[in-house]
Amino acid sequence: MKFNLAIAGAVLPSLALGFPQMMGGTKQDMVNMLKERAAKEEMAKRDPQLLNAVGGLLGTIVSDVNGLLGSVAQGLLNPNDKRPEPGYTFLAPGPNDSRGPCPGLNLLANYGYLPRNGHVNFGQVLEATARGFNMGTDLAAVLAVFSVLADGDLVTESFYLGAGPNNVGGLNRHSTAEADVSPHREDYYTGCGDNHHVSSRLVQQGVQIIKAGNGQYDMAAMAQQYAKNADFSKKYNPFLYAFPFPQIVSLGAFAFYPQFFSNGTYGLGGVPNYESVSSIVGFELDKSTGNFKYVPEKWPTNWYRRSYPYGAIQAIADAFLQIYPSNIIVPGLSQLGTPNFNVTNILCDVFQGIRSITPLVIAGTEKDAAVAADWAINKLVPYLGVGALGCPLDTLSPDQGDILFPSATRTGGPINSPSAQAKRAGNNVYNKVYFKTAPTTPACNA
Ligand code: HEM
Repeated sequence: MKFNLAIAGAVLPSLALGFPQMMGGTKQDMVNMLKERAAKEEMAKRDPQLLNAVGGLLGTIVSDVNGLLGSVAQGLLNPNDKRPEPGYTFLAPGPNDSRGPCPGLNLLANYGYLPRNGHVNFGQVLEATARGFNMGTDLAAVLAVFSVLADGDLVTESFYLGAGPNNVGGLNRHSTAEADVSPHREDYYTGCGDNHHVSSRLVQQGVQIIKAGNGQYDMAAMAQQYAKNADFSKKYNPFLYAFPFPQIVSLGAFAFYPQFFSNGTYGLGGVPNYESVSSIVGFELDKSTGNFKYVPEKWPTNWYRRSYPYGAIQAIADAFLQIYPSNIIVPGLSQLGTPNFNVTNILCDVFQGIRSITPLVIAGTEKDAAVAADWAINKLVPYLGVGALGCPLDTLSPDQGDILFPSATRTGGPINSPSAQAKRAGNNVYNKVYFKTAPTTPACNA
């Protein structure tokens, strides 16, 4: 506990200086709040049942969930961070609206922060993610650039949130931004192409993890979920892809749970509890079966976004220092675990590796691919290039399609999927249960 308080004392002045806009209370209020939190955490470690008002030792998932129901808003809250803002109303997506693997973007489209039909452009994504969730524009730019490049259309700088027209492109496209080992989605191969619906059995697994922990989808719980999912993929997915960019998105997505889905700011009293996460990610318990139905993504009532931006540097630090070490998939980043680990280097690696991403225009000529890569590089220069992070421009990698996808054309790879896998492409269909059991063999006939 002394340690916790020492950290609180050390970080507070810099937080206050760095983010004056989040200072709804005084510094002493924050110290008190953090002290109280540290005491609660200490108590919870000694007696985890204290955190479960109901539920306790009952083994079923229903009682687990009951035990996790708790408070809604906590921490230091600024009224300006309440979401949705007036004028943005929830409307469940219709059958022709494109929705896919990203709960954050799906939700923003459900409120009209993004076009409700799910066809979004670069500028809209930067604005909506900042406004709805306080995502830093550098992080949003990296995600959006790769999505336009790998899943979308360069001329209109746009992409679809789920499947594109005729199921070509869109965020569902595998191993581009969408990746294996996701928090609550199955792998493309084992899911038989369904990499985009919330998986009931993965939600059950997560509920058990948070119940055994602090009752929250905090960083420790998400690292456990990652470790279990990575184990499963290593065992059952012979086509597991873990290349730099999709791997960063996938790892980042685990850290996004606490950082973006807490009610209020994570680490400053905001909690990523069952209420917030189930509503935002869109899962609902069927008490008669213990399965979880995938429902449209929605903010819970009385919800506050984080009060200051979460950007690319912090996302990569969380991903590689807090999530990845729980289950290393490939020794992809040689600096990891050495004193040379440096998030700026990783971002620069991504920037410099952009020419190795397989653009959606892969069917076109090599010239098309080069034009696409140049577009992406120019888009990222203000955030990552010389003068911003200082990534050098003169070492950008040449066009080598085999860097990211050494066996891209192999059956099951991102370009040449087994035809059975394509069966489950398409936009999200809500109000159904997906994956009651683990797909240890591809679920193509289920
Ligand atoms: C800026 C544009 C964004 C793009 C292009 C994007 C794209 C994606 C993609 C492709 C995935 C699938 C990754 C995988 O297969 O593991 C994903 C997952 C995810 N995204 Fe986003 N995203 C964006 C913004 C956001 C925001 C603002 C949030 C949160 C507020 C968010 C939260 C998540 C989470 C939590 C997942 C994992 C879902 C799960 O499996 O449980 N994303 N995103």
